[in-house]
Amino acid sequence: ARIRHYKWEVKYEYKSPDCYKKLVITINGKSPGPTILAQQGDTVIVEVTNKLLLENLAIHWHGIRQIGTPWSDGTEGVTQCPVVPGDTFKYQFKVDRAGTYLYHAHYGMQRESGLYGSIRVSVPDNFTEPFAYDYDRSIILTDWYHKSTYEQATGLSNKPFVWVGEPQSLLIQGKGKFNCSSSSLTADTCNTSNPECSPYAITVIPGKTYRLRVASLTALSALSFQIEGHNMTVVEADGHYVEPFVVKNLFIYSGETYSVLIKADQDPSRNYWMTTNVVSRTPVNTSEGLGFLNYYPNHPRRSPPTDPPTGPIWNDTAPRLNQSLRIKAHHDFIVTPPTTSDRVIVFLNTQNEINGYRHWSVNNVSFTLPNTPYLIALKNKLHHVFNQTPPPEGYDSVNYDIYNVSNNPNATTSNAIYRLGFNTTVDIILQNANTMIVSNSETHPWHLHGHDFWVLGYGDGKFDMNKDPEKYNLVNPIMKNTVPLHPYGWTALRFKADNPGAWLFHCHIEAHFYMGMGVVFEEGVDKVGELPSSIMGCGETKGFGKP
Ligand code: C2O
Ligand code: CU
Repeated sequence: ARIRHYKWEVKYEYKSPDCYKKLVITINGKSPGPTILAQQGDTVIVEVTNKLLLENLAIHWHGIRQIGTPWSDGTEGVTQCPVVPGDTFKYQFKVDRAGTYLYHAHYGMQRESGLYGSIRVSVPDNFTEPFAYDYDRSIILTDWYHKSTYEQATGLSNKPFVWVGEPQSLLIQGKGKFNCSSSSLTADTCNTSNPECSPYAITVIPGKTYRLRVASLTALSALSFQIEGHNMTVVEADGHYVEPFVVKNLFIYSGETYSVLIKADQDPSRNYWMTTNVVSRTPVNTSEGLGFLNYYPNHPRRSPPTDPPTGPIWNDTAPRLNQSLRIKAHHDFIVTPPTTSDRVIVFLNTQNEINGYRHWSVNNVSFTLPNTPYLIALKNKLHHVFNQTPPPEGYDSVNYDIYNVSNNPNATTSNAIYRLGFNTTVDIILQNANTMIVSNSETHPWHLHGHDFWVLGYGDGKFDMNKDPEKYNLVNPIMKNTVPLHPYGWTALRFKADNPGAWLFHCHIEAHFYMGMGVVFEEGVDKVGELPSSIMGCGETKGFGKP
């Protein structure tokens, strides 16, 4: 095993990712940041210097379980104090499983300012993967707003509430195309011929097979990704091998990663479109994501002679649910889940009004972060730091109508957490419901830090505690770290609480988590080793952590 050492400088710079010039957070001058390449068993060390001048920072290694290093999870308020301007913070962790992962900012809604990138962990020597390919490529899909994160956050916490709205454009590997002529912008602010926003191109050699690692880190949007004229075979999801299946378009939610195989077997005299489209929300003037599959030796900037393919109908949930149901563990790599669980927690997902402020809640509790990060508070038994009364295990599933707008008058904000018995098996039932808008239910991608879970099932409507568990897939469920909760549906997960620490479980939509859509699990915190002083310096540990 090797050590992969990185030194990163994080700062704001003017960039034009979608041709519109604005301040973007870069790592060593780039957004997306550098790809971390490592092999299973390696240790990654990233020394991050915060040069943002006025803004704190934390970086999360999305999909890395941080076994034995819970303080390196990079979750501000949960596992560390923020890295203040001018400071350098050292993240150190082991990449213990091959696969496709991500990193991104985890301080407020900072991720959507451009601080993100890929982590690609290769298999050990002498290990053969259950599929073959000639070349390996990665792309990250995002959506993009022209307003600053501050302006958005201010609106979300305002009375009356100001929603962030739909993104201005979709980016593929940090490049998109906003229609500059649609507004009265000067060429200095928005210029469609700026090379910074020329479509991202993946160059392929005719006849070769490519493993394309596709990840989504959208702030809001659920996406459909397609490559004109090419089918994709799904082979990996969140670091786990999938029983291969073929799709024309891949539905992908924020926080998910997939590997698909594509064969460059079409007419080699031209290039092909790669596109992304918004699904699950009404598309309002969001420029679609455009990239090129560039057949060598055609010029990588040459536009395909055809119109870009349009995505599927945005409001049809059935094909999305169907894709979710198709994702099963590869038959040679099945990790069988425990057949029973020790605890079942049901999470009702709702929108609420609390004291005139708009929130998202789980079981009518909207999550807030304490001033002292949980990991430090728990380890040092600082009980006054957060509310010690456990949050609810469920909701009134008999009387609650998930199909109608509900007032949820008893909603509260709280920083209470779920404490799990170490090594116990926990089931989570995510239950969707109507929002505060009539006949509206959204898609929420839920992401768990520190673990992978088995995806036991998805269903429509209200989860039935008596009947639905009988339909669980206990034979070959996929393991993932991020999973969609479809509109008016439920998703059932199982995981082992076997990683000592404090771990966030939250909706990966930036604005939703900011508005309280998350919970924290604690397990085996007494088994956590001595905390590095570098994670301290805020709340009750003010003054600590500085040499
Ligand atoms: Cu990728 Cu808590 O996030
Ligand atoms: Cu959400």
